Amino acid sequence: MTNISKCYGTGENRVSALKRLNFSVRRGEFAAIVGHSGSGKSTLMNLLGCLDFPTEGEYLLAGTAVSGLSDRQLSHIRNQQIGFIFQSFYLLPCLSALENVELPLLYRGLSRASRRAIAAQALESVGLAHRANHRPGQLSGGQQQRVAIARAIAGAPPVLLADEPTGNLDSASGLQIMDILTGLWRQGHTLILITHDQDVARAAPRIIRIQDGQIAEDICTHTTSKEDFS
Ligand SMILES: Nc1ncnc2c1ncn2[C@@H]1O[C@H](COP(=O)(O)OP(=O)(O)O)[C@@H](O)[C@H]1O
Ligand SMILES: [Mg+2]
Repeated sequence: MTNISKCYGTGENRVSALKRLNFSVRRGEFAAIVGHSGSGKSTLMNLLGCLDFPTEGEYLLAGTAVSGLSDRQLSHIRNQQIGFIFQSFYLLPCLSALENVELPLLYRGLSRASRRAIAAQALESVGLAHRANHRPGQLSGGQQQRVAIARAIAGAPPVLLADEPTGNLDSASGLQIMDILTGLWRQGHTLILITHDQDVARAAPRIIRIQDGQIAEDICTHTTSKEDFS
């Protein structure tokens, strides 16, 4: 990200949510983005995830300048590159766990059988093979978040973007989710974790602290590879 700014509203209502941010996350890195409420974390998450555009500045995702893309190209790069994990899971209540995990695969032109097989494998990897036919409402919060993680990884995106993934969970389930996410990073995913919780952030080898829309601190204890991602 180069000189990224994001403003909301106009005139007197104009809010400058991010101010000339510069940073990059390398492929295979695990970075936590931390900051108080209102500091700009969600705004940054939306930009990183190509869910919104910056007012100014350039964002490269896997070497592609995002600002030049059409909506269609944007959904494509999002689907290929990023797995999203949100605080409130965003599972579809009328679908089974397995069907929820299959969703990102629908755009991949796979047969129904191979979609099923990949989704089943992803559910198994988060320890939920035995809950494949349950609906979200029949699962605990921690289990629902595990389904959401399975959905995020089913399409094998290199990047996982998690916004307060433990925010709605009790501490035991939160720890379990962090173990799974850390394990995915160790397997090679780039992991960007957005949190206001210092304890959760501590799992990350790199911590970027946002304050009033600016980077107040960027502490990196080690990096894992050389290739630039954004
Ligand atoms: N859609 C929006 N319209 C106007 N202001 C917004 C909007 N979204 C966020 N903001 C403002 O931008 C700033 C950063 O918000 P946000 O990115 O949600 O911070 P965080 O996620 O760290 O709590 C805040 O001052 C917030 O009020
Ligand atoms: Mg937020």
